[in-house]
Amino acid sequence: MLYVPGDKPRAIEKARTLAADAVILDLEDAVAPEHKAEARANVRAALLAGGWRVPVLVRVNGLGTPWEHEDREMALLSGASGLVLPKVEDARAAQELSLGRALWAMIETPLGVLNAPAIAAVPGVAGLLVGANDLARALRTRPHPQRLPLLHALSVVVLAARAHGKLPLDAVFNDVRDPAGFARECEGGRALGFAGKTVIHPDQIAPANAAYGVTDEQAQQARALLDAWEEGRAAGKSVVTFGGALVEGMHADEAREVLALWTASQDSVIDSSDRSH
Ligand code: COA
Ligand code: MG
Repeated sequence: MLYVPGDKPRAIEKARTLAADAVILDLEDAVAPEHKAEARANVRAALLAGGWRVPVLVRVNGLGTPWEHEDREMALLSGASGLVLPKVEDARAAQELSLGRALWAMIETPLGVLNAPAIAAVPGVAGLLVGANDLARALRTRPHPQRLPLLHALSVVVLAARAHGKLPLDAVFNDVRDPAGFARECEGGRALGFAGKTVIHPDQIAPANAAYGVTDEQAQQARALLDAWEEGRAAGKSVVTFGGALVEGMHADEAREVLALWTASQDSVIDSSDRSH
């Protein structure tokens, strides 16, 4: 998911052409107080103009800010696919804002992490987004190449979302000129169980899609495993081996998921040259 500042019309237009799976038009942290009204007008115009190939979410200003009501009203009346709500700290906040539109809750405070399971359980919540910049500041952690100081919080978000069938999305990586660091963080997030990455710059989209996507080789492996599984099952076996390793039902399910993801990426309406898996 690509964040796009609401006060940068040029970036909003560019976002229409990029290979992100969803766009988050931001009215919150990326927009200074004196630009809030102008950003809201830009976002409204971009939504009403239509023509978006992917879901467009609006990150509204948080509860208790002077802009919250106008932001939410604009997003809902202009046809946003969903809302991203910053600094969600309890289930009540998420419940109040479940207005028949997908709600993506940002977990970016210590209390938000501790209450993440209850927040993820709210029916209108589609997924949890980690806000690592705010979280690191609130926790007084130090930067670390493997994000060890944030590891527990990141895992709690994945656990909470997965427990309720919601999507956990990893935090942004600030240094848009550090592709190696970005790729490392994508791999780390995927290994933890995140479903995808939130990104802040066009250059981060292809590497995130590559890290979270399925390579042709992985798809072929999944196909071969599934063939071995189905052959074994047809022969009356409860479990089979593939390449020397035990294969059970859940491995077959996983292979089906990998193949579905690969097929979806082949069918993508978005410029497939950017999807380098
Ligand atoms: N979405 C869409 N387009 C973007 C973009 C974004 N998030 N970030 C940059 N671009 C566009 C620029 O408009 C520019 O387009 P152009 O060639 O048509 O002029 C092009 O990509 C290159 O941008 P670049 O000059 O490399 O970026 P920058 O140095 O000006 O800005 C950032 C870097 C990080 C400030 C900028 O990418 C940004 O504002 N990102 C989003 C920040 C955000 O949303 N924060 C809140 C969530 S944490
Ligand atoms: Mg934040």
